[in-house]
Amino acid sequence: MKKLGVLTSGGDAPGMNAAIRAIVRKSIFHGLEVVGIERGYSGLIAGEFREMNLSSVADIIHRGGTVLRTARSETFRTPEGRGKAAQNLRAQGIEGLVIIGGDGSFRGAQALSHEFGVRFIGVPGTIDNDIPCTDYSIGFDTAVNNVVDAINKIRDTATSHERTYVVEVMGRNSGAIALDAGLAGGAETILIPEIKVNLDEVTEKLWRGYQRGKLHSIIVVAEGAGSAMEIGKAIKDKTGFDTKITILGHIQRGGTPTAFDRTIASRMGAMAVDLLMDGQDNKMVGIISGQLKDFDIDYALSQEKNIDKSVYELASILAI
Ligand code: F6P
Repeated sequence: MKKLGVLTSGGDAPGMNAAIRAIVRKSIFHGLEVVGIERGYSGLIAGEFREMNLSSVADIIHRGGTVLRTARSETFRTPEGRGKAAQNLRAQGIEGLVIIGGDGSFRGAQALSHEFGVRFIGVPGTIDNDIPCTDYSIGFDTAVNNVVDAINKIRDTATSHERTYVVEVMGRNSGAIALDAGLAGGAETILIPEIKVNLDEVTEKLWRGYQRGKLHSIIVVAEGAGSAMEIGKAIKDKTGFDTKITILGHIQRGGTPTAFDRTIASRMGAMAVDLLMDGQDNKMVGIISGQLKDFDIDYALSQEKNIDKSVYELASILAI
């Protein structure tokens, strides 16, 4: 193999730049040419290619977002769009693609591979941490730290005003961010889509805390578990507590990636290059118990990513 391409796709995730840097520099170390594809699959279809060299990835390891930019492409969902993408790859002489993104991006790559024989390796990059076959995806750790930082700040004002706060966090259909940030932030209650909780249980817990003299509470709600606005209103109606709602939104996705995210991004990015050089493709890399692994993409995408319910139980016990 002489030339590979790299792109980032779907929602950006802090640490994607560290992965791009690793892919580019590991490729150059092995004497390969690397092409950066801008704006994910949209750029692949539109032919937005640029040669990458050592200095194209200088001074980016500590930056959030993605220097290659990203997009969610509707055209790529069509066979015609994927056909154009495959044609552009051939025209550029790109023999293998590294795709940094979430499961939607991997499914797109899977179709490109099945239909047009495009060789690719997926590197998991999403704050949601909802990709099977890896303990962590790039960006999750930073997002959790962003949320904990926000909860710390909310706690100061919640304590001062003796208020109840409902804090909505991202995660799409996954409660992973809410769970880890809720535990680390000492939330009284964590609501996640994976575990159904009756709102009466939430208000009863708030009452029990109130009777013990607890005058403020923080409830972390994963966006997939329901609307923070509605939950906050219901809590206020049922308890009469002064209840505020904070939707953290895209702030969770930005900022300097943690050392952990930079480390896993560097390791997984470099491994993706090694796999392509070794003649392997149609795979994703993952990190399990600290070890790099690779999985066939068809297998990986047929698996489910589950949260650790014991963490949820522990958070409930500790937030008594
Ligand atoms: O997948 C990452 C994510 O941040 C989700 O947690 C969230 O639901 C979604 O992307 C938001 O998408 P957008 O940035 O397009 O609003």
